[in-house]
Amino acid sequence: MMLAGLLVLLMFDNGGACPPDINPQTVELPEVVVHHADPLVINCTALFNRRLGDACVITDEDTSLFVGNMTNVDWDIQAYCNITMNESLLRKNVTITVYKTPDSVSISPLNHSGPMVEGTEYHLLCDIKNVAPLQNLVVKWYKGNESILNVTYSDLSIKTPGDVFPNLTITPSRDDDGAQYRCEAELDLGPEGPQPPPKMISKDQIHVEVLPHQPTFPTSPTTAGSMDTIQSTVKPGCCYLEFNPPSVVVEYGDPVSVLCSTSHPKPDGMGWESTIGGVSFQPDVSSVTWTVDKLEDWTIEPMCYHSTVDGQPRKTLSVIVYKTPDSVSISPLNHAGPMVEGTEYHLVCDIKNVAPLQNLVVKWYKGNESILNVTYSHLSIKTPGDVFPNLTITPSRDDDAAQYRCEAELDLGPEGPQPPPTVTSEPLNITVHYEPRIVCPGWYSELENDLILDNVRCIITGNPPPDTVWSRNGEQVNASVPLSRTDSGLYTVSAINDQGSANATIQIIVEYAPELTCRDEYNIVENENVDITALCKVNGRPEPDIHWFKDQNQVDPPIKWTRKNNGEYKAISNNTHGKASHIVVINVFYAPEILLKNRTSLMVIAGSNVSLDCSAEGNPSPEVKWNYTVAGNINVTTEGRQRTVRITRALSANTGIYTCTATNRVGMVTRKTTVTITTEDYLKIIGIICLLVFCLLIVIAVYFCKRMKKQGSYHFNPINTNINMRALP
Ligand SMILES: *[C@@H]1O[C@H](CO)[C@@H](O)[C@H](O)[C@H]1NC(C)=O
Ligand SMILES: *[C@@H]1O[C@H](CO)[C@@H](O)[C@H](O)[C@H]1NC(C)=O
Ligand SMILES: *[C@@H]1O[C@H](CO)[C@@H](O)[C@H](O)[C@H]1NC(C)=O
Ligand SMILES: *[C@@H]1O[C@H](CO)[C@@H](O)[C@H](O)[C@H]1NC(C)=O
Ligand SMILES: *[C@@H]1O[C@H](CO)[C@@H](O)[C@H](O)[C@H]1NC(C)=O
Ligand SMILES: *[C@@H]1O[C@H](CO)[C@@H](O)[C@H](O)[C@H]1NC(C)=O
Ligand SMILES: *[C@@H]1O[C@H](CO)[C@@H](O)[C@H](O)[C@H]1NC(C)=O
Ligand SMILES: *[C@@H]1O[C@H](CO)[C@@H](O)[C@H](O)[C@H]1NC(C)=O
Ligand SMILES: *[C@@H]1O[C@H](CO)[C@@H](O)[C@H](O)[C@H]1NC(C)=O
Ligand SMILES: *[C@@H]1O[C@H](CO)[C@@H](O)[C@H](O)[C@H]1NC(C)=O
Ligand SMILES: *[C@@H]1O[C@H](CO)[C@@H](O)[C@H](O)[C@H]1NC(C)=O
Ligand SMILES: *[C@@H]1O[C@H](CO)[C@@H](O)[C@H](O)[C@H]1NC(C)=O
Repeated sequence: MMLAGLLVLLMFDNGGACPPDINPQTVELPEVVVHHADPLVINCTALFNRRLGDACVITDEDTSLFVGNMTNVDWDIQAYCNITMNESLLRKNVTITVYKTPDSVSISPLNHSGPMVEGTEYHLLCDIKNVAPLQNLVVKWYKGNESILNVTYSDLSIKTPGDVFPNLTITPSRDDDGAQYRCEAELDLGPEGPQPPPKMISKDQIHVEVLPHQPTFPTSPTTAGSMDTIQSTVKPGCCYLEFNPPSVVVEYGDPVSVLCSTSHPKPDGMGWESTIGGVSFQPDVSSVTWTVDKLEDWTIEPMCYHSTVDGQPRKTLSVIVYKTPDSVSISPLNHAGPMVEGTEYHLVCDIKNVAPLQNLVVKWYKGNESILNVTYSHLSIKTPGDVFPNLTITPSRDDDAAQYRCEAELDLGPEGPQPPPTVTSEPLNITVHYEPRIVCPGWYSELENDLILDNVRCIITGNPPPDTVWSRNGEQVNASVPLSRTDSGLYTVSAINDQGSANATIQIIVEYAPELTCRDEYNIVENENVDITALCKVNGRPEPDIHWFKDQNQVDPPIKWTRKNNGEYKAISNNTHGKASHIVVINVFYAPEILLKNRTSLMVIAGSNVSLDCSAEGNPSPEVKWNYTVAGNINVTTEGRQRTVRITRALSANTGIYTCTATNRVGMVTRKTTVTITTEDYLKIIGIICLLVFCLLIVIAVYFCKRMKKQGSYHFNPINTNINMRALP
């Protein structure tokens, strides 16, 4: 294939009318679109003029290029403009699109004729002959006036014309009876191309006739519309031509040799017609060989013929000229760097310079898994071209570091090389960024000062690797500092990366040995209800046990307290981390009680010594006091709990009430003793009086006895007694 490099010189005036902010380097030339039978004219001045503005292009030189019509010129024509500006030369390529509208567009059912059965799948074929470039072709399928499918070939870069026969799969229903299908081949050549875009509509529309579903298929299929590349024109009843090998698959540039022989008993002669390696008519032979040392024609169609009395039967040899791709590479489309989970990306497999497309299979792999095969069996283009199919992926977190590759395989059939020639791209490793996920235990416990939040094992995933942040009650905490017992509670751990965040909450339990908080002493009033176990706080994790001991014996502290329960209690608390004990003194308070027997009165002979004791018990120990009329001969002494009032040589002045009072905070009790001081005379008088009364009683008794014996009534006459009494002081 010959490249035509066409140069056009474009001069800018060095006077500098071009605005300084315009950099021709970055200016893109508009595309030139030309019909293949039209002359190609490129006017660089005109191209630049459109972009840079009139002021910029100052040249009198003719910068136009005229090529003539493109029919016999290379489809791959290339041209560039030389731009001289500020004494530097810049070369800009002009993109030229040479297009050709199809020779024909037709629609037909594939392998089928006659009415269709409802519910059965059929294929309609749109046969588009000799169109270029495929990249700009849009095949539009219509049912009636309804657009049902648009097919594009934007993943191909082949400038030469070829045949295209896309298919449409239909499953007609009875409503489709009488429906009309058509296809349109439109060349969408962009803004520089002809407007509206040239299009060709299939000349015949298909009228679909639908039969109700029947258990058996009606007609046997015919081959209407199928593409048979081998065209044999051997007349029936005559002889035939035979190739050995029957068909040829040859790599571009390789030698090829095919023997053509005839079964005719008496051929006049034979020959090969071919652009290369043709063999002129050889008389009286029954075989002739077509040989090419270096096959460099993509579209070669050698034909063998022989001359007989019946005419000149001929047969075309099927030759597939193939070329393995120059390169196959895979890359993300319009993207660089890591991908984000859940976002759609396209990977492009760039296959350079491969032929024929019809036999190309592009195989996409993820790791070793085959994920997509793309074929181009609906294209018939013999010349090589570039193919860049894309794969749409929506990576998930599991696809991080996944490896994609694509393979270009030329599946050339049994005549072709085995295994089929394959070129594989370098693998593409993708990096997927995804938001964090976090899975943590519901709780975590450890001994105080050993518990570091960083030690909590959470499963955190995310790419880029997330940062973890601990917080409690919305306040961030330093996760590397050991926690103390007061730090127990609900914590939140957040995993954060640029894709998002995830949180988990964890109950953090800081364990520690028991700790008892009790008062050393409790004062309880007897019969009061007090639960000292509730008053004694025990802390510790795990929850400690607590036991109470009194006098080495384990006890259950009472609720209602009596003086018997007074004493020292020891609380012992333990858990797995240790134990704690505390002694609590329980004072059961009760009101004073006077211990000695009650003596309410006391008669004392003057001059004698007398002492009054008073002792009381109670909790707290009562204060015992005597209340009396103070005199010089009275003193109070204390001995133990006993308080004694001593009267020395009692005088009558010491007569009175002596009150003992025992007091504590719970209550008070008193005992009164009446002390009477008497002389000895007084006692004697009392003695005489007593004697006299006694004698009198005896006399009375005797008198009554006598009267009872004399049987009569007696008068009792009282006797006058005169008793001398000395008044008491
Ligand atoms: C090229 O374009 C310029 C600017 O539009 C025009 O002046 C000139 O005549 C054109 N030349 C030809 C040969 O058409
Ligand atoms: C294009 O050129 C070919 C031969 O070079 C000629 O046969 C054909 O008529 C030309 N077409 C037009 C539209 O001038
Ligand atoms: C255009 O520039 C290239 C250098 O980039 C030079 O080789 C070529 O001769 C130039 N063409 C013309 C027509 O000046
Ligand atoms: C211009 O085209 C030539 C081939 O004719 C190619 O080698 C070169 O890379 C192209 N330059 C640009 C900028 O596309
Ligand atoms: C095909 O493309 C045309 C525009 O060119 C659009 O109006 C139509 O809806 C498309 N049809 C389908 C099925 O996408
Ligand atoms: C229909 O076309 C697709 C490609 O668009 C191709 O893979 C498939 O084999 C074709 N089906 C038939 C029955 O030709
Ligand atoms: C692609 O084709 C190969 C055989 O060539 C087959 O093993 C594989 O399963 C196919 N892959 C898919 C996704 O159809
Ligand atoms: C991917 O390829 C299909 C054809 O196979 C094409 O229609 C589509 O536009 C391509 N997508 C991108 C983003 O190039
Ligand atoms: C791609 O991943 C593979 C493992 O899956 C590894 O061996 C290879 O080095 C990676 N290549 C690059 C360029 O990172
Ligand atoms: C995680 O917690 C932070 C504050 O601690 C909050 O801003 C964020 O929205 C939470 N994220 C989720 C996913 O709950
Ligand atoms: C406390 O200690 C006793 C024996 O010393 C033991 O049986 C008990 O299980 C311990 N309690 C706890 C909570 O560790
Ligand atoms: C002692 O006297 C008090 C009143 O002073 C009385 O309540 C109490 O019962 C008496 N006790 C005795 C043993 O007589």
